[in-house]
Amino acid sequence: MDQYQKAAEIIANSKTIVAFSGAGISAESGIPTFRDPGGLWDQFDPDEIGTTGGIIATVMRKPELIRDFFLQTAVIFEQARPNPGHFGLKALEELRLLKAIITQNIDNLHQEAGSSNVIEVHGNLFRARCLNCGRKQQLNKQELLARLKNFFAAAPADFEIMNLVQLLPRCPNCQGLTRPDVVMFGEQVQQMPEAFAQAESCDLMLVLGTSGVVYPAAAIPCQAYDRKAKIIEINPTDNYYNSISAVYLPAPSGQAMPKLIELVKDLL
Ligand code: APR
Repeated sequence: MDQYQKAAEIIANSKTIVAFSGAGISAESGIPTFRDPGGLWDQFDPDEIGTTGGIIATVMRKPELIRDFFLQTAVIFEQARPNPGHFGLKALEELRLLKAIITQNIDNLHQEAGSSNVIEVHGNLFRARCLNCGRKQQLNKQELLARLKNFFAAAPADFEIMNLVQLLPRCPNCQGLTRPDVVMFGEQVQQMPEAFAQAESCDLMLVLGTSGVVYPAAAIPCQAYDRKAKIIEINPTDNYYNSISAVYLPAPSGQAMPKLIELVKDLL
């Protein structure tokens, strides 16, 4: 049987579906992944921009590298829109088949596609967190990106970390300084209890666009599998999850999801 047809039948006959997504689902939105050839970790050293300490040290030692990284990031995220992969998950939610999305992505594209239950284990780039009281506030994406671009377009070569901090609004609760509410390497991941609860209660997990190499997030599909959920993986490159998948679709998610949704609708 055609693997898409097999996947569609599993989806149509599942009661509680949860999706687990990684950078690959946003690749067709123009956001580079981390570990594909030419990805972020090919362009920049994770030790220099993947940790809070690394960014602070790099601002002091190589401010031009931070400027290039943030300017490139601002341009990429300004143009990024949800793609058919994101919209396919929204369609499954509208068909009352998909209960939640657990994402490692910080790009807000699942929410912009209209998905309503998004668990962000690595945070969200367009949310700020108070360094004093911990209060979180959603930011206006385009305003923040414009502020980043304007600052770095005019930034002196020797800008300081405080210049970066001042690009974010102060806390509405205590007026404290804030930081992006994203999880850097070595920091506490977010919403893991909610993510594992979803993994343990689903009977099917769709795994889209992740290399599955960063823990603890990468353990989430394994938790679902251990609780007897079926796994369907969508990824042009096979990886560990292939070995626990009932169906593996070796395709970009932006191409696979629309095909799957049409087949599922014919079965409902
Ligand atoms: N559709 C589906 N999958 C794709 C596509 C696509 N169009 N393009 C690439 N992929 C796959 C790649 O084959 C790869 O397996 O997406 C995966 C991306 O892997 P990574 O770059 O490692 O991204 P991810 O798995 O999300 O990384 C996890 O690592 O650096 C940290 O915090 C960061 O959240 C990130 C975490």
